[in-house]
Amino acid sequence: MAAFCLTVQMIGSSISILLFTFHFSLSMNSNFLGVVCLNRQYTRLDEARTLIDGIIKSISNEEDKRGAYVHLYGVGLLASLLALKRGFDRQTAEMAEIAGMLHDLLTYVDRASDTDDHAHTCADYAKEHVLDHLSCFSDEEKAVMYRGIYNHSDKQVLGDPFDELIKDADAAQHALRNPMEDFFYDKPRIQRAIKDLL
Ligand SMILES: [Fe+2]
Repeated sequence: MAAFCLTVQMIGSSISILLFTFHFSLSMNSNFLGVVCLNRQYTRLDEARTLIDGIIKSISNEEDKRGAYVHLYGVGLLASLLALKRGFDRQTAEMAEIAGMLHDLLTYVDRASDTDDHAHTCADYAKEHVLDHLSCFSDEEKAVMYRGIYNHSDKQVLGDPFDELIKDADAAQHALRNPMEDFFYDKPRIQRAIKDLL
């Protein structure tokens, strides 16, 4: 009886190992960078995120690092969502997300750069450290992202529809981190962005 139980147990263990191996091999996938991942489809956004993450991780001040992740990734997500809500295609939403992730990056890397002119200096920083290194985007697409970053502080004027995605996402992230804060929430641009997001 003991021998029978042991045999059954061994067969059960073997089946478990086989099932695990089968499931693991099914869920393995390779991206265009040759990186093995689980259940993920790597896109060209990941190429940008790898560079951006590398820069954010190098920020030594923990509060600045936290702020960078919260604000930049928040703006990126909202820009992507706004793009889809406003009828842009997924490729444009992807570009909006990258521009959102880059729009203030320099101000977290170098706090002294957080001036009234930061949109322009951030655009140049993004170009030099990220956009120029992206192999999966055309020069035209990189120019669109650069321009979205460059113009993101011009919130008093209504500009190009892509630029407006970055401006609105930037404003909405500030407002939605605390919807009870009137200073941001009551502004017409934010009300318009939230209306489009809902
Ligand atoms: Fe911002």
